[in-house]
Amino acid sequence: MTDELCVDLSGAPQTMLATLYAKALDAESPRSLLHDTWARDIVARLDYDWARTTITPRTAPAVSTRAAHFDTWVRQFLALHPRATVLHLGCGLDSRYFRIAPGPDVEWYDVDFPDVAALRVRLYPTAEHCHVVAASVTDPGYLADIPADRPTLILGEGLTMYLTRDDGIALLRRVVDRFPLGELQFDAFNRFGIRTQWTNAVVRRAGATLYWGIDGPAEILAAVPGTRLLAWLSVFESDSFRGIPGPYRAMGKAMSVLPALRYMAQYHRYAFGRPG
Ligand SMILES: C[S@@+](CC[C@H](N)C(=O)[O-])C[C@H]1O[C@@H](n2cnc3c(N)ncnc32)[C@H](O)[C@@H]1O
Repeated sequence: MTDELCVDLSGAPQTMLATLYAKALDAESPRSLLHDTWARDIVARLDYDWARTTITPRTAPAVSTRAAHFDTWVRQFLALHPRATVLHLGCGLDSRYFRIAPGPDVEWYDVDFPDVAALRVRLYPTAEHCHVVAASVTDPGYLADIPADRPTLILGEGLTMYLTRDDGIALLRRVVDRFPLGELQFDAFNRFGIRTQWTNAVVRRAGATLYWGIDGPAEILAAVPGTRLLAWLSVFESDSFRGIPGPYRAMGKAMSVLPALRYMAQYHRYAFGRPG
């Protein structure tokens, strides 16, 4: 292909190549969960040894089920708040804005490290209401440029575990203070998942380190004043998990017997601010 782009990333930014590739494999599958043709086309345009991600057709559903889960929660938020801001933190090369195709009253911000943001800008078309922000999500500076005039969804998929607890809590407090009303939606690993990160081939292969483990919503409610719990569940309890192929579902069922394994990966959803 003539416009192949060479990618050279390491650490946490490299892990987004694994999630991208998983979504591309999912798109090729006859039992696709996400139908992410953007991921498939971008993988074809990048010059990269995809075997390095360690993702295979067997492991890809773990990623696509998570993306499908957050697509549902984002759509629910936008149905309630058609005039909204979305902060998509640690977006990687995810195509959520194009998958969801929000209305013209939604201002969408895709935030990731400068290397990743630069790739995004080259690979996705520009869209009037979709903005790419090149920054660390822990940097307080970029928030000043994001208007706080409408309900705001702060979404972090596959992000929190790469932050330290102090940085993560500071980020959540900062957004809850800045925006008058909205939701926090993110996934997290529990402490057991952080302790056993050596078993996570994607993270190990990227040379990334996971830091922040969350054992339940009480930790967020206590540390981030103004938040109210909307939902907390194991990834195995999500509706999107029920759609995935047999072997992976069976593994989820087996893991669900032990709480440490059942809640190794969880979805969190909180409201903040005062409606009206
Ligand atoms: C596992 S990938 C997930 C990417 C995307 N959300 C997805 O699900 O496909 C983790 C992403 O978080 C980003 N990330 C990690 N720490 C970050 C930080 N401090 N600031 C900005 N992005 C960060 C990485 O660059 C990477 O794109």
